Amino acid sequence: MEWRPDMPDITIAIDGFSSCGKSTFAREIAAYMGYRFIDTGAMYRAVTLFAMRRGAVGMGRVDAAALVAMLDEMEIDFRFNPSRGASDIYLCGEMVEGAIRTIEVSNCVSEVSSIPEVRTKLVALQQQMGRKSGVVMDGRDIGTVVFPHAELKIFMTAEMSVRVERRYLELRGRGEEVSREQIERNIRERDIADQRRAVSPLRRADDALLLDNSCMTLARQMEWFRERLCELK
Ligand code: DC
Repeated sequence: MEWRPDMPDITIAIDGFSSCGKSTFAREIAAYMGYRFIDTGAMYRAVTLFAMRRGAVGMGRVDAAALVAMLDEMEIDFRFNPSRGASDIYLCGEMVEGAIRTIEVSNCVSEVSSIPEVRTKLVALQQQMGRKSGVVMDGRDIGTVVFPHAELKIFMTAEMSVRVERRYLELRGRGEEVSREQIERNIRERDIADQRRAVSPLRRADDALLLDNSCMTLARQMEWFRERLCELK
């Protein structure tokens, strides 16, 4: 069966390790399907930036109790940016797309995302944002916790050297002074933290399709996606 634009909307959950190109792939799928795209990693990064700005991070350590006490004052939303043709993330009314992608935020985000109250708040927000089908959401727990009944689940992985190079080019492209060694250390630490945390650890849902995109261009990944879409009943 061939997928057609008049078919009923579905929910697409994309999970996997950091720097595997999840968001790039998810954004491309959303454009192809005419769906909304929600980058949940950006939401955890925005909470981390909020904690840093409000003094709940000191010497690289997160004061979980202080952050939890301020969570009600935190507002996160996405607003469509016509010039980019994509949504930007806003923290308490300020556009923070660039500010959330620094290495300082990356270094603290795993700790922030392991705080149960943070996850409860963001999962509820994600479920609210995706309550209408026609959405592509990427993260670590979308197919297992946020949308366990998603019609299509994809779990992404790639070789470490490929992941490091992608993140290196991305950060360098934004003018950040960072080495490949720093990036690899950060990615390895986040892999361990993401898989070992007590609440919603990163794991492949039993019904998620595995995609290793180490040697695949985005165009080839889209071909793979269209094939999988045609297989949906
Ligand atoms: O996708 P990313 O690298 O921008 O995500 C940033 C961090 O947020 C990542 O280290 C793990 C965390 N995260 C999470 O715990 N759950 C999600 N659904 C998405 C991200």
